[in-house]
Amino acid sequence: MISSVRQQLIERLADGEFHSGSELATELVLSRTAVHNHIEALSGYGLEIYRVKGKGYRLAAPLSLLDAEQLLLGRSVPLHLFWQLDSTNAFLMARRERCHSGEACLAEMQTAGRGRRGRPWVSPLACHLYLSYFWRLEQGMGAVGGLSLAVGVMLAQALERCGYADIELKWPNDLYLQGRKLGGILIEMQGQIGEPCDLVIGCGINVAMPASMADLIDQPWADLQGDSAERVDRTALAQEVLAALATGMQQFEQQGLAPFIAAWGARDRFRDQAVTLLMGEREIQGVARGIDPQGNLQLELASGQIKAFGGGELSLRPQWQN
Ligand code: BTN
Repeated sequence: MISSVRQQLIERLADGEFHSGSELATELVLSRTAVHNHIEALSGYGLEIYRVKGKGYRLAAPLSLLDAEQLLLGRSVPLHLFWQLDSTNAFLMARRERCHSGEACLAEMQTAGRGRRGRPWVSPLACHLYLSYFWRLEQGMGAVGGLSLAVGVMLAQALERCGYADIELKWPNDLYLQGRKLGGILIEMQGQIGEPCDLVIGCGINVAMPASMADLIDQPWADLQGDSAERVDRTALAQEVLAALATGMQQFEQQGLAPFIAAWGARDRFRDQAVTLLMGEREIQGVARGIDPQGNLQLELASGQIKAFGGGELSLRPQWQN
């Protein structure tokens, strides 16, 4: 766990300005050696910290830390905020029996962030958004179909409200920016047939990828920061995502995927493009023709026939990546 002294150091360094060793030592009531040792340890969390003689310590780039006060203001459903967790999805899943719809969890970093198909999700400190959202779907598992597509629309709209245009969606549940993966959705569920089911909707959005982490990602990626000089406000982003999920999940519960179909189609990254669909060992070539009312991918095969594909284990890659 990140100790409270280290949390305070990170908070002071977050502005990206120089802070002298003696200033930090006085503020945190530590010796200068202790400050130095804690700063060294922070590199272990992926933070790049410069030390310049006569000036002190400075982060390679400022950080936008989550502002707990702003995030908790006026909330009627619990929001759990952590510096460090194994996984925000795992946290909500473990307490799901006590959770209320709309309960959410955010962490500054994850040590075992989960991606789809058992992959890890790279989750360095204060760099991206790691958010999970709980919902109890009264209609049960049978009504979950298409949810990941609907959540994709909710996230895209939240990003658009934050000023990021041109967000695209890749079936079934990736967010794209400028042709590269910006974020992903991992929905985990628990329940019995014929009963309400518990859903944990995990959202990972790349905000500012540190150079040290970039090589760990096995596919082309994008982040919101890009080349912009203005630091992305992660708190504002989290607030928009929470608001979009709150409204969107109510709508999904009442009307299913139908109200999201057109919005999904408008952001379809691979519409009318040649793609390869991976289904376990099988590879199916075709041209992507959007989604059907159930959220299945419609693929035009070489024969001209349009076939619908659904299910959780499908993967889609543009043919130029093969
Ligand atoms: C994907 O593989 O595309 C889905 C990635 C989902 C990552 C998010 S980050 C917040 C939440 N907690 C996790 O452990 N995973 C999801």
